[in-house]
Amino acid sequence: MPDLSVEIADVRLKNPVLPASGTYEPKIVPGGVFSPRALGAVINKTVTLAPQPGNPPPRIWETPCGMLNSIGIPSPGLEHFITNDLPLLRKLNTRLIVSIAGFSVKEFSELAERISEQDGVDLIELNLSCPNLRKHTAWSQDIVLLKTVISAVRKAVKLPLIAKLSPNVTDITETALTAQDAGADALSLVNTFRGLAIDIRARIPALGSISGGLSGPAIRPLALYAVYATFKKVGIPIIGMGGITCWQDAIEYFLAGATAIAVGMYNFVDPSCMGGIIQGIDEYLDTYGFSAVKDIIGLAHRD
Ligand SMILES: Cc1cc2nc3c(=O)[nH]c(=O)nc-3n(C[C@H](O)[C@H](O)[C@H](O)COP(=O)(O)O)c2cc1C
Repeated sequence: MPDLSVEIADVRLKNPVLPASGTYEPKIVPGGVFSPRALGAVINKTVTLAPQPGNPPPRIWETPCGMLNSIGIPSPGLEHFITNDLPLLRKLNTRLIVSIAGFSVKEFSELAERISEQDGVDLIELNLSCPNLRKHTAWSQDIVLLKTVISAVRKAVKLPLIAKLSPNVTDITETALTAQDAGADALSLVNTFRGLAIDIRARIPALGSISGGLSGPAIRPLALYAVYATFKKVGIPIIGMGGITCWQDAIEYFLAGATAIAVGMYNFVDPSCMGGIIQGIDEYLDTYGFSAVKDIIGLAHRD
């Protein structure tokens, strides 16, 4: 049996398959289809400090090989999350990543501090890349802001930090290096690409908040390139995501340099797909004589 375990910032995951934040709700996955306990880790929909409603509808629009969303982080607020959601997530008996987003450096630090006081949280993911909010949340599109916020959170907490970066930049490797130098222990690459659809009958933008974030198979080559280009530049692990639908897609990401992968949009198509992906990775390693998933990370690099 190949060893599927990987380490993200010294936290051992039993396998490298995770859900992407905001796309998978372990509490409501149809019973018996697939147990979230089988995942390397679970992660919540990004939580903000104060409750907020999210964006006006429509918030989802189908596109060729993908989807645009402008959900906009509807959030119950941190205290509600700690009291109601965290106990359920802890019961899943796998690693737990908590995704947070602040609207200021102070808010980010406060969120991280409160989360790190809770039992059973293994890693914090800083959502530095939501493209869908009016208030500034795409921290990783500005190198100075990015450095400031990660450095502040780094000082505030000891828990390992994953920086989730925006692909909506000229050179994501520059952003990734900044995040690493500021104290991030791992990277999530990537969040959604900003996009637009127009309803031609109404002659207005299709989404209530005009633009949205594109995800799904349409972005896979773009996201895969971001992982490939970043892998050689940084020394910290990368969680690769963008358009993964099956184990073959996941293997591409490992070969490009991802230590773990996350599935987003495709969970809406098939909520049990991550089980098949775990099995497929195992069989691929077995077929090609690799004893561990760690052995194929970055293997597609030729120099
Ligand atoms: C409906 C929807 C909601 C999302 N919500 C969040 C979120 O709350 N926090 C976050 O960091 N990313 C969020 N994302 C981005 C995903 O986690 C992921 O980075 C992106 O969709 C790319 O993966 P995919 O192509 O497999 O969907 C969301 C994506 C979708 C489609």
